[in-house]
Amino acid sequence: MGNREILGIDFGGSGIKGAPVDTKKGKLLAERHRIPTPSPSDIESVSGTICQLIDYFGWKGPVGIGFPSVVMNGTIKTAANIDKSWIGVNAQELLSKKTGLPVFIVNDADAAGYAEMKFGAGRDVNGTVLLVTVGTGIGSVLFSGNRLVANTELGHIFLDNGIEAESYAADSVRETENMDWTEWGARFNKYLNELQKLFWPELIIIGGGVSKKPERYMPALSINTEIKMACLKNDAGIIGAALAARKALKRDDD
Ligand code: BGC
Repeated sequence: MGNREILGIDFGGSGIKGAPVDTKKGKLLAERHRIPTPSPSDIESVSGTICQLIDYFGWKGPVGIGFPSVVMNGTIKTAANIDKSWIGVNAQELLSKKTGLPVFIVNDADAAGYAEMKFGAGRDVNGTVLLVTVGTGIGSVLFSGNRLVANTELGHIFLDNGIEAESYAADSVRETENMDWTEWGARFNKYLNELQKLFWPELIIIGGGVSKKPERYMPALSINTEIKMACLKNDAGIIGAALAARKALKRDDD
């Protein structure tokens, strides 16, 4: 195994997905493998699923994992859509011990941001870029001059209707409330316009599951900022988690 191959894992609300990544090319080296997220998504069960993924690929090298949480120095600080038992746990230490491999943890949206800025829709964009990942929750990524402001958590801002953005416009809300795409698109438009008003980004990138079907809601969006879909689609989280691990291992310039 070379220096640049790292197993990327994306811990999502409904699935935990992984694949070995060539971090130099930003490409998966094997087809991604997905295991449904255990319920409850507590420490024991999720650690077990992560070990299963590592075994599935017979992986013996470094691992990068995107968590749907604020992550500071490997410690999980929030748990909006996962079991609360994770809060305060140093997942990086815990999973390194459990797997016997060097494990690095990063916020899932920040991971997707690294990947899109290096290999995807944000390549060569130097100004303020916002990436919004839409799935079970809403994740956000803020880049300025190609530098990440980590853990921005803009899915938790309150809109002028008094509702938290994630509870109003996440894809999971569209599904539970049985909304059609036009109705959901109007909600998403309201959220994007709020972000536009606050940050004046040069570009907004849309990631997560909804980036695969833009034609369904793009007609409902009316916003004065360039919008692009994430190029790496759902693989951005996996690729970015591996990139974050590579960064932590200081293999950036090899
Ligand atoms: C979490 C974020 C995460 C996002 C997407 C939110 O509920 O607070 O940390 O990035 O969901 O998974």
